[in-house]
Amino acid sequence: MNTKIVSIDRDKLDMSVIAEAGQIIRAGGLVAFPTETVYGLGGDAFSADSSRKIYAAKGRPSDNPLIVHICRMEDLYAIVQEAPECAIRLADAFWPGPLTMIFRKSAKVPYETTGGLETVAVRMPNHQTALALIGQAGGYVAAPSANLSGRPSPTLAEHVIEDLSGRIDMILDDGEAGIGLESTIIDLTEEVPVILRPGYITKGMLEAVIGETAVDKAILNADAKQAPKAPGMKYRHYAPKGSLLIVAGSMERVTAAIRRLAAKSRRAGEKVGVICTDETAALYTDADVVKSLGSRQNEAAIARHLYKTLREFDEEGVTRIYSESFGDNKMGQAIMNRLLKAAGHHTIQA
Ligand code: TXA
Ligand code: MG
Repeated sequence: MNTKIVSIDRDKLDMSVIAEAGQIIRAGGLVAFPTETVYGLGGDAFSADSSRKIYAAKGRPSDNPLIVHICRMEDLYAIVQEAPECAIRLADAFWPGPLTMIFRKSAKVPYETTGGLETVAVRMPNHQTALALIGQAGGYVAAPSANLSGRPSPTLAEHVIEDLSGRIDMILDDGEAGIGLESTIIDLTEEVPVILRPGYITKGMLEAVIGETAVDKAILNADAKQAPKAPGMKYRHYAPKGSLLIVAGSMERVTAAIRRLAAKSRRAGEKVGVICTDETAALYTDADVVKSLGSRQNEAAIARHLYKTLREFDEEGVTRIYSESFGDNKMGQAIMNRLLKAAGHHTIQA
């Protein structure tokens, strides 16, 4: 398949491009598009066939449900059985934005889109290109992250091109996705709402609006016996090709341990990479590839650079990667969650 790649600018939208992309989705095709979190791979959420195509293009297991993206609040009611009051409050506070809410689904949403579940995940992204495309595509766009299954989510159109070129109809290139980590997911079908995936919208921000929320125990604890409630969280996503070890502890101990490990791996013939921060980058003189995610003072930059950096290590043929760890306040929890998954929960205490 020939994939059409078109540049677009969210601040000066070329509506003829958006109309063409919307028409492709309405006709059952697939279009990758930017959002404020990561790039998504969009298809018609009401078409079982489009959802099957999404799974095939990504090489994704079909028990892993898709998020339905909408662009108008009133469109929510057609796809859910009921919108609880807390959902309305969360939508008021955070939509459009990086929050996905899970509801009981209506009959309109095919099981192919929800991975066989009775529930549906819904999000209204905060990105002009995405919102315009959803409108032109009929209002309901099913979209997982636009990466091959098992690769880091795409934060640039280049990443989408790398993974999906030749497998989908169109890619809209609108530069860098803003946040760089996928949306926070909250399940509203339980008595107490449960966070299934941490993201930019933190537990504290959610609780300020709706009161007590719980966190799915499987998120940060690899030993938790139960499977995560978001089926996608059980897969080893975001896996770099080189084996990745996270080193936790005080900064002094972490840098010393990584220096020691890097030197040792190098002597063993490995090509060694280090994931670190501006504050520590100069210390790792014994590694082949040293990449800083940004300053520890700037959590947003660290989030934005994580997936891109993991991809870069793959390109450089690094065989062993050591990473510093990050605190679990605010977005730190989302960063650690993705890093732990990339590492297959392989961590040591320095
Ligand atoms: O920021 C985002 O959410 C991006 C952009 C494109 O919007 N999308 C995204 O989609 O990250 P995806 O498919 O890569 O991740 C969706 C996650 C998966 O872990 C999936 O299992 C979970 O949401 N999920 C979807 N529907 C669900 C449901 N009904 N119940 C529980 N988990 C669900
Ligand atoms: Mg994904």
